[in-house]
Amino acid sequence: MNIIFMGPPGAGKGTQAEKIVDEFQIPHISTGDAFRLAMKQETPLGLEAKKYVDQGLLVPDEITIGIVRERLQQSDCSTGFLLDGFPRTISQAEALDEIMAAMGKTMDHVINLKVDRDRLLARLTGRRICKSCGATYHILFNPPARDNVCDKCSGELYQRSDDTEEKVGTRLDEYINKTAPLLEYYRNKGILREVNGEQEIHTVTAQISSLLRGQA
Ligand code: AP5
Ligand code: ZN
Repeated sequence: MNIIFMGPPGAGKGTQAEKIVDEFQIPHISTGDAFRLAMKQETPLGLEAKKYVDQGLLVPDEITIGIVRERLQQSDCSTGFLLDGFPRTISQAEALDEIMAAMGKTMDHVINLKVDRDRLLARLTGRRICKSCGATYHILFNPPARDNVCDKCSGELYQRSDDTEEKVGTRLDEYINKTAPLLEYYRNKGILREVNGEQEIHTVTAQISSLLRGQA
């Protein structure tokens, strides 16, 4: 099954992706995670991406499309994958169509997580991530059992550099200007499904799972 998760920053794409890839046993492809790993390792890609990510701006299309093209050609994607945070512009969506067509594949589902802008700031500024395994928490909405310690691997939690109030504002503007128009693109293809992302985390997971299984 080939899936895209869409939604504004903080809608819960990463949180839900962790659960859905476990359930469906498919790889989780997050362009944000790929950029953060490259930035941590200070590779040429990471140094270039950092100029944009740290400001809350989208990384240029050519760079982002290249990463996804390479990743989708790996053998573990042959039976399905979950794209989280890609595509984010019309050009990226068109490039994805071409990549898929060249591989003789099509997208099965685009899930859009809907959350009001007012809630997103609180979600993002309170987010904490495990340094070791990448699991996502929230200091109020999804806290770990012990302060700053990952439940899954006992790793230390950290706050993303782009989760400040100022950067979140820029990220939301980028989303509205460049990514939201994609909803129409996928609605026209008839594969867009909307999920209310303001519900409890487990309720959102159950609804996505039912949609993917064709039971909703
Ligand atoms: P990326 O890493 O993709 O960030 P994003 O889209 O801004 O999304 P987030 O990861 O911030 O949010 P999320 O929806 O995954 O929410 P989460 O589950 O963590 O991209 C980062 C940067 O990389 C971009 O700004 C750009 O520079 C670059 N980039 C990436 N892809 C690109 C592309 N295709 N093109 C160009 N540039 C690109 O949840 C948020 C918080 O809320 C967590 O604390 C969580 O615990 C909590 N939460 C989740 N669900 C719920 C719930 N139901 N109720 C209460 N709290 C909840
Ligand atoms: Zn962990």
